[in-house]
Amino acid sequence: MRAVRGNVPCGFWRLRSRFGALSLSPVIRFRTLGILGRRATALAAALLPLPALATDAETEKAFIMGLPKAELHVHLEGTMEPELYLAIAQRNGIFTPYATGEDVRDRLRAAHDLPSFIVIYEELIGAAQTAQDFHDIALAYFRKAHSQGVVYAEVYFDPQLHLERGVPLETLYAGLAAAQRDAREELGLEAHYILSFLRDRSAADAAHVLEASRPWIGDLVIGVGLDNPEVKDFPAKFEEVFERAGALGLHRTSHCDVDQADTIANHWGVIEKLKVERIDHGLNVPDDPALVAAVRARGIGLTGAPTLFYTEIPGRMAYRAGRIRQLLDLGLLVSVNSDDPGMKRSLYVGDLMERVQEETGMSRDDIVRLARNSFAIAWIDEAERAAYLGRIDRYLADREPT
Ligand code: HPA
Ligand code: ZN
Repeated sequence: MRAVRGNVPCGFWRLRSRFGALSLSPVIRFRTLGILGRRATALAAALLPLPALATDAETEKAFIMGLPKAELHVHLEGTMEPELYLAIAQRNGIFTPYATGEDVRDRLRAAHDLPSFIVIYEELIGAAQTAQDFHDIALAYFRKAHSQGVVYAEVYFDPQLHLERGVPLETLYAGLAAAQRDAREELGLEAHYILSFLRDRSAADAAHVLEASRPWIGDLVIGVGLDNPEVKDFPAKFEEVFERAGALGLHRTSHCDVDQADTIANHWGVIEKLKVERIDHGLNVPDDPALVAAVRARGIGLTGAPTLFYTEIPGRMAYRAGRIRQLLDLGLLVSVNSDDPGMKRSLYVGDLMERVQEETGMSRDDIVRLARNSFAIAWIDEAERAAYLGRIDRYLADREPT
């Protein structure tokens, strides 16, 4: 049993949850309620079909799922589920060697690290050709995220991957804009996008895609980031492009993957050279006390994403979830995020919070802090931030025992 508290901690409910929601016979229900001294009510209850009662775990899951939260580190392309990939490939007449979603998942299971994953990621996203495709990928993600309590999202996308295979920026942005509009209208979910430069491509390429994207900077594209596998001295490589992005009014973030060569130097590099407001992952921050102090002093957000290859690498989830807990305990602004939930089978964020809680024994208060942090480090104005935090307050108040 994990170290968490449900809304109804009394012994009766615990008894019920131990037996499972539906496993108590009416007679036992009657007896149990009789012990509580409510014979008449119990008799009526025993004669009527009782609604299923939630176990502690179910209550906690429902709490986490409904908790308003922001997703700040997710790759649009990596949200594409295998079934959607197959549908897109089919309608675009693109050959695919996979007959079923499971075949695609088998292929994805061959990935064991970021570079081997990126090869498959590029192969699969190659099916997306039209604005409709990008719209469908993004909207499917927004619907799924919304079902897990996400009310605000900032979504990474990789324009260079699409430009390199001949998809014009106009097509990509038309799809992203349509999905943003639909998410607002259908779900009340507010979404914006983070233009990501590929770390293993040139700075000149990045500068080109930034200039070409200027018409969409504003409500649609609100920031820049860096992803793809780390290369040596990547912060220095992109210093000029990030300065330009800042001058264009864009927010700045960068991946610093976990336990990489030169990890600490790279964390310092993105802070000092790229002037980032957030670090994606950033789970090595506790390894350097000076880094902890700098991240705290500058209010830098850390978008932890613990699920990379967690099914392939034993202990991966526990290690990364533990690091997230450590950052939280240090009082830093860390959130949990899903990264590539469609392709890497990394969990969607509600499931992920639940799993992180399970791995680390976080309390409900800790989970709420993660959700609050997600809004604290979102790129929104102070009035919006207060409104989202107010939604969390109301959510908690509505669940207070009366
Ligand atoms: N890291 C993790 N997941 C990703 C990346 C990355 O750089 N790019 C696309 N999905
Ligand atoms: Zn990522």
